[in-house]
Amino acid sequence: MVQQNAAAADTSAPIVEMRGISKYYGGIAALEDVDFSVGAGEVVALLGDNGAGKSTLIKILAGAVIADAGEIRVDGAPVHINSPARSKALGIETVYQDLALCDNIDVAANVFLGRELKKPCLGGLVRIFDRRRMGEETRALLADLKINIPDIEAKVRDFSGGQRQTIAIAKTVYGAAKLIIMDEPTAALGVTQQEQVLRLIENLRERGEAIVLISHNMSDVMRVADRVVILKTGRLVTNRPKAATDRDQLVRMIVSGTEEPLLTDRQSATERAGQ
Ligand SMILES: Nc1ncnc2c1ncn2[C@@H]1O[C@H](COP(=O)(O)OP(=O)(O)O)[C@@H](O)[C@H]1O
Ligand SMILES: [Mg+2]
Repeated sequence: MVQQNAAAADTSAPIVEMRGISKYYGGIAALEDVDFSVGAGEVVALLGDNGAGKSTLIKILAGAVIADAGEIRVDGAPVHINSPARSKALGIETVYQDLALCDNIDVAANVFLGRELKKPCLGGLVRIFDRRRMGEETRALLADLKINIPDIEAKVRDFSGGQRQTIAIAKTVYGAAKLIIMDEPTAALGVTQQEQVLRLIENLRERGEAIVLISHNMSDVMRVADRVVILKTGRLVTNRPKAATDRDQLVRMIVSGTEEPLLTDRQSATERAGQ
């Protein structure tokens, strides 16, 4: 496992660890006493039916919602994530479904949006955008992540959904994220484009990024997740290695909200059903 991002304090601790998280809206428990963690170089699939609490959980990590109870640690140290800025400063980045990209500017301008590189001009009188350097850095970043975007000077609106999704994810990597949260990253994509995004997730894992993947696509989950966490009406149903479950069992647990026994490699769900 590559621990590229494990610079801070306790390198054996998960990148992010949430314990006993609860969040109430009026009488409704959106989350109740939920534990959740992600390690470096680990992809955790966060699963559950509508209303399970997935969005609330990631919004708490993103600083958009504040938990009513519970504790969050980043690299082993207790933190208070009380704003989106604080979340970003801790190295947590979220790629939402409705991609936060600007259509009418090019790839490099999107990657550097809000943190543009500048250079002095007019003998140091003013500082202007350093487009050449931003272009170079963007090319290097995309090459590093094995993302194939031939023309980074093209406007983002000219790219396919899959390319746009990979650009949005690349942007979070440039933002020095150590935890990247992806909400349904392949939902709106065709098969080839889904493949681009899944490969990128695998590359990011190799680089030691911690990844939370929210998905309703069980093929994606079974392919890229290392661990699966299922929520149902705000409560944890299961947290287990992907190897200890299969696609049918995941679907059953998502629907029923009841944990089933771990499956071993030799014992498929079909065999169990035949017993
Ligand atoms: N801002 C809110 N106000 C009131 N209820 C909310 C709010 N956000 C979420 N909820 C409720 O919390 C529960 C969990 O929602 P959510 O986290 O969006 O689930 P999921 O993303 O898994 O579909 C649902 O019952 C939802 O109606
Ligand atoms: Mg949701």
